[in-house]
Amino acid sequence: MQSLLPPVVRPVQQISEVGCTPRAREYRTVPALQFAMHGVLKPASAPITSVLKRALNGGYLSDAAPRAVFFDLDAFTAECKSLVKAFPRNALHGFAVKACPVVGVVRAAYLAGMGGECASEGEVALCLAAGIPPAKIIFDSPAKTDAVLLDALKKGVHINADNFDEIEQIDTLMRLNGIMHASVGLRINPQIGAGTISMTSTAGLSNKFGVPLREVRAEIIAMFELYSFLNCVHVHVGSQGVSPQQLVDGATAAVQLADEINGRVPGRITTIDIGGGLSVDYGGDTKPEVITFSQFAEMLPEALSKYRIVTEFGRRLAAPVGWIAAKVQAVKSSGPKRYIICHAGADLCMRAAYAPEKWRHEIELRDAKGGLKDGPTVGKFDVAGPLCFSGDIIATDREYQQPEVGDIMVIRDAGGYTLGMYSRHTSQLVPGMYGYRRGAEIQVLKKPETLDELVHFWGGRVACNK
Ligand SMILES: Cc1ncc(COP(=O)(O)O)c(C=O)c1O
Repeated sequence: MQSLLPPVVRPVQQISEVGCTPRAREYRTVPALQFAMHGVLKPASAPITSVLKRALNGGYLSDAAPRAVFFDLDAFTAECKSLVKAFPRNALHGFAVKACPVVGVVRAAYLAGMGGECASEGEVALCLAAGIPPAKIIFDSPAKTDAVLLDALKKGVHINADNFDEIEQIDTLMRLNGIMHASVGLRINPQIGAGTISMTSTAGLSNKFGVPLREVRAEIIAMFELYSFLNCVHVHVGSQGVSPQQLVDGATAAVQLADEINGRVPGRITTIDIGGGLSVDYGGDTKPEVITFSQFAEMLPEALSKYRIVTEFGRRLAAPVGWIAAKVQAVKSSGPKRYIICHAGADLCMRAAYAPEKWRHEIELRDAKGGLKDGPTVGKFDVAGPLCFSGDIIATDREYQQPEVGDIMVIRDAGGYTLGMYSRHTSQLVPGMYGYRRGAEIQVLKKPETLDELVHFWGGRVACNK
């Protein structure tokens, strides 16, 4: 595990504090907006109806483009600003790009005072494309190649190493390339317990992320003593299904560790990255504890304020403010079941299809003009997508009015971890994504994929012989 080369003592460069949006003074809520409060801002039905009507008129949703994703940029900006406002001015808030990698969304987060949290070199490139300066980019990921790490070191982004091997990889790269400054954290697994969804929990006894605090505390401290480029303790205890108290427990463990390290090497830890993970209420029976960013900040240990705080929220910011519209292509019965076949399936709502017991979306039935259907419900339906497997079902046994071909299914809470997890199964064209603000035109954030682009993705040249 130890590097063969003797460690080099290097000056520590802190994550820059440039670019934080002034808070309080400039923060404004958006009282003119029509929101339904579910603990977090959520676009109410009226804006969805008017946006849908405009999208239909503008051809963004049509027979040629039978599904599209819509994103409420006003609500997103307001949520990002509420996060920035809840923490000290020098905190760095990295929007978790994996939640919604669309560049216009990442840029909106930046303009609201945030940076970006990345899980790959691709996400770093997306942050840079969105105009985020390297000093506001946090690079996580448990598997970084030499080339990717070297590029990140040269760019000056903050790197969170996942394990001891990566620290030695960084040390070697710095030595071989004459790099004298770096800002590097180490991800710990505080082993404080899993949340209600194992696949999005990262702080159980065993986990693929980070180094297990309870088992290797002494080795972690030794690493921080040895490598002066290590300036940050990173913890992320999980995503949906993890309680706010578990996030606080993770942050508390990080502070205790940082205090101990600084007791041995004064000033070594300047920064604590507390990760992301606040849950969203998707409207199912399992009600996660949904609190505001300021309530969450209040819960954090006082001792955290000695350090520069980094956060990495994604789902909570993006999921509630986006929705998918998918045209109904068929309505049919098979045995005792009735199906609505629409144009959004496991490709866009992967988790709802593959783990329906844990993940759900509210799905509304709207008429072909975008209005909510009224009248009595006529029974229960499964909502199925366009893919070629029987599990391509995104909701089961939902009560609806009589569905008709040409109607529109609106899938709520789909602004995060839907398009960002897009699956290419059966090569459906990736839908476009559209942003909207009150009193402004619909903005094309991402054009729908063309057949040429699809063929190119799969190694071909163009769709047809033109
Ligand atoms: C390291 C890290 N940080 C932040 C996040 C974002 O979590 P969330 O979107 O739940 O806030 C994730 C999610 O996978 C993550 O792995």
